[in-house]
Amino acid sequence: MSLVELLARYDAVLRPAVVRFFPPRLAVALYSWARQFALRMLADSPPPMTLVPPPSLERRLWGIRFRAPLFNAAGMFKHGEGYTLAYRQGAGAYLAGTTTSEPRMGNIRRGIALPFVPYPRSGAASNWLGLPNPGHRAVAARIARLERYEAFPIGASVALDPGECSPDAIERLIEGLWLYHQARTDFFELNESCPNTGDDRVGMDALAERLHIIAERFVRPSRAPVLVKISADTEPEVVEQLVPLLIRLGYAGITIGNTSTHYARHRTAIAPAERRAYDYFVRTFGGGISGAPLCASVSEAVRTARRAAEAAGGEFHVIAVGGIASANDVRAALDAGATLAQWYTGYFDRFARDGHRVYERVWEHLCMQDPETSSG
Ligand SMILES: Cc1cc2nc3c(=O)[nH]c(=O)nc-3n(C[C@H](O)[C@H](O)[C@H](O)COP(=O)(O)O)c2cc1C
Repeated sequence: MSLVELLARYDAVLRPAVVRFFPPRLAVALYSWARQFALRMLADSPPPMTLVPPPSLERRLWGIRFRAPLFNAAGMFKHGEGYTLAYRQGAGAYLAGTTTSEPRMGNIRRGIALPFVPYPRSGAASNWLGLPNPGHRAVAARIARLERYEAFPIGASVALDPGECSPDAIERLIEGLWLYHQARTDFFELNESCPNTGDDRVGMDALAERLHIIAERFVRPSRAPVLVKISADTEPEVVEQLVPLLIRLGYAGITIGNTSTHYARHRTAIAPAERRAYDYFVRTFGGGISGAPLCASVSEAVRTARRAAEAAGGEFHVIAVGGIASANDVRAALDAGATLAQWYTGYFDRFARDGHRVYERVWEHLCMQDPETSSG
């Protein structure tokens, strides 16, 4: 067992007690620091051997081969690190970013940088990182230097600089997309803070206009697959409107979804022993909730998106993300109509148990459950 696997295993034993008994501020300070430390250590110590997913799990989207249907969600490898790690662990693809045009330090409040706290008993976490990243240019340059592997595509997640949606900001985003394209990125994910409710006409119109410009200036001329990632809180009516629009504009798919801010609703899914830390985090930082509490709304939105895509026709894929932590969860996402799935919170929970065999265990169970239809 490697050092990073050993530390993750010990942490998994201690973590429930830390989150339950430590003063909430201390637990948040500790895990905000430990998350960054652990990620850096993990990315720098890939397993010595490559675990290859069973060939039956391979699927082809937009003419690109993905060797398996599950890979990291955006935000895990914000600097374009962890590529060898993901490949050797047996992930289906690798997703870098999210990056913005300007480098960002991320959020600091009450002396805590990049606030994050896990809720291990609940399979959930809160974060208020504020999109820290070194910018499109730096990560695209890193991607350009990566060794390529067969059926292991590289994706880039990009966003507008937060709080900006002026024509200039859109221009800088498009420049970033072209930098990644020149770096031979295989697919793109546009991280959109889109309106969550159908009542937000102004938000919906602004989003449609933005998507239109990006389609004209990048999606159509590059012919690259571009997905749009939306919040897990997006209501089904918005998904129903958005999918036909994306198809008309030439987008390749939709990723559902980003973290949730439905604090009161998700509080019931947080174990009583972890509610003190949860309440502190929400009160102090707000932030986004990830993990198991997102499962139900993501499944519903994936179903809605699939139905809307079928009605419109064409090759349009749905990627499910939110609360995926096992082969059963991947199977449920695929059954709901997703073609691929991503994970973040669940990956770290599983890594504590399975170490570098984190994907291998999922593939084993996925093939056992469904040996005939696991190919796609
Ligand atoms: C610490 C942290 C950082 C994240 N950063 C990003 C990001 O930069 N871009 C993005 O699109 N999503 C980001 N996310 C959201 C995840 O990609 C994912 O959509 C969300 O966590 C739900 O998946 P999960 O339940 O598997 O964690 C982040 C999530 C976490 C927990």
